Amino acid sequence: MFISFEGIDGSGKSTIAKMVDEKLRNEGYDTVLTREPGGVKIAEDIRAIILDRNNTNLDDHTEALLFAAARRQHLKERILPALKENKIVLCDRFVDSSLAYQGGGKHLGVDEVYNINIFATDNLLPDLTLLFDMDPKEALKRIDKNKNREVNRLDLEKMSFYDTVRNTFLDLAKKYPSRIKVIDASKSIDEVLNDSMKIIEEKLHESK
Ligand code: ADP
Ligand code: TYD
Repeated sequence: MFISFEGIDGSGKSTIAKMVDEKLRNEGYDTVLTREPGGVKIAEDIRAIILDRNNTNLDDHTEALLFAAARRQHLKERILPALKENKIVLCDRFVDSSLAYQGGGKHLGVDEVYNINIFATDNLLPDLTLLFDMDPKEALKRIDKNKNREVNRLDLEKMSFYDTVRNTFLDLAKKYPSRIKVIDASKSIDEVLNDSMKIIEEKLHESK
């Protein structure tokens, strides 16, 4: 079983993925909790190029290809071996992040970005994707809460980017309703965890 956790920055994916991992382990399941680039050296090296602030001239297509390249390495080294051992893989971000951020947010086109990702993943998609949906402004506030600062003009400018990313995620959920389940991520952590576990447990029973 391959489960991905998707959503805009600050929507609570990592928090919930960790809690889901703990719950499933307590229930006796064998799980692997991972996130791209997942501590896989080659994938980390590729990600460092994408995140390097000095690479101001990084082309959007190059960025999409690098995310896909890092994804492939993480898939080969971590995800596929775990699936082969019948583990439940919980992955913080996968293909849908590229479709929403590069395809939607950066306007490269969802189909175009999907095509390069088919090559990268041999068209392996998660069995289940939880989409943590909420207003980007509120999600950003969550991130900033820790830093104790007001939301500034630049943050607000980024809002239209995040709005597009959010809407692209929601379009994907409409397109793949049996794979992608939308969760209201604005609720409390306990409620979001409960909603997530309900969907996961349903899927686990289905596959038995
Ligand atoms: P993501 O992985 O989606 O970027 P995180 O899980 O890192 O998001 O959460 C971002 C911040 O919001 C963290 O400080 C986290 O503790 C907090 N947070 C996560 N879920 C909730 C929630 N449902 N309600 C309020 N705060 C939350
Ligand atoms: P990540 O480290 O997962 O950040 P977060 O903790 O906020 O979820 O991802 C870093 C940034 O990279 C984040 O803004 C999302 C973006 N990203 C893409 O644009 N495309 C992708 O394919 C992936 C995996 C991430």
